[in-house]
Amino acid sequence: MNDRLPDLSDAFALRAAAIEDYRRDGHVVVPGLATAEEVARFRPGLLRASEAAPQREKKPLEERDTYGKAFLQMFNLWRQNEVARAFVHARRFARVAAELMGVTAVRLYHDQALFKEPAGGATPWHQDQFYWPLQTADTVTLWMPLVPTTREMGLMTFASGSQSLGNLGDFAISDASHREFERLIAEKGLQVAAEAALAPGDASFHAGWTLHSASSNQTDAMREVMTIIYYADGTLVGPLDHPNRRFDRDVWLRGCEPGEPAAGPLNPVLYERGEAESRPGFPAATAWGATRGPPSPASPPGARRCARARRRPSETP
Ligand code: SIN
Ligand code: NI
Repeated sequence: MNDRLPDLSDAFALRAAAIEDYRRDGHVVVPGLATAEEVARFRPGLLRASEAAPQREKKPLEERDTYGKAFLQMFNLWRQNEVARAFVHARRFARVAAELMGVTAVRLYHDQALFKEPAGGATPWHQDQFYWPLQTADTVTLWMPLVPTTREMGLMTFASGSQSLGNLGDFAISDASHREFERLIAEKGLQVAAEAALAPGDASFHAGWTLHSASSNQTDAMREVMTIIYYADGTLVGPLDHPNRRFDRDVWLRGCEPGEPAAGPLNPVLYERGEAESRPGFPAATAWGATRGPPSPASPPGARRCARARRRPSETP
């Protein structure tokens, strides 16, 4: 089945202006990163993976808190089936992430399906990197709808330039984070940017410290979105100085201690400059980088400890 999937390993021609916009604003939209036809081929496998994901919320909408109402959140779909793995490991996407950040290689932090249900609530303003024990600002989230998505279904809104403010404090996704960051955005006069609509395969990218939110879903349709989170290869694990960061280390960076390279068995290198181009036709569905022996040149000395814990992603850790 896998070899009949579209090949997502080719290079996408990213506009120079997109890179400038991303570095200035902390977010950018890349139209047509995948075609609608490509997305349609991957969607059934991604939906199957999202159904099978054990984290899928079963409680009715009205019994959930603000965070729970915002979306169904299913992660590491790439571990569920080959279709999801080919999509999440797509070298085309990872290369854009690397080019936007200006780094030579990127690793996978994790993927998440974020499905905003009909009548699903708004996503409060927040910073993603508050949750991540990653000692770098070179982190980025790809956010790609699998279906035509309008503002009424819950599109992303970004506060331009907010990434340069860095860590804005202990605000988990909640009504409190929404109030605090709405106030801060007004106080600092930050510009707020939102698209009117995105097509399947269009993608936005936002940096880990960029403030963002999303509107509620006022339609009868599910807002189906896939996200993939990348960080620069060579990044070290940061301090586990918050329960959320300890949780994230345990789930995404297992086996890696603070100060060590963030290069655990669930963090394959998905793009590395040079090697990718020299391997034409390299299969898109291969766990690219995860199975290579020596640490990449971009990895600092010491990458071995976590890297030693690497397994083939098809194995159960
Ligand atoms: C959303 O999809 O509503 C929010 C995504 C994010 O917080 O990155
Ligand atoms: Ni977020």
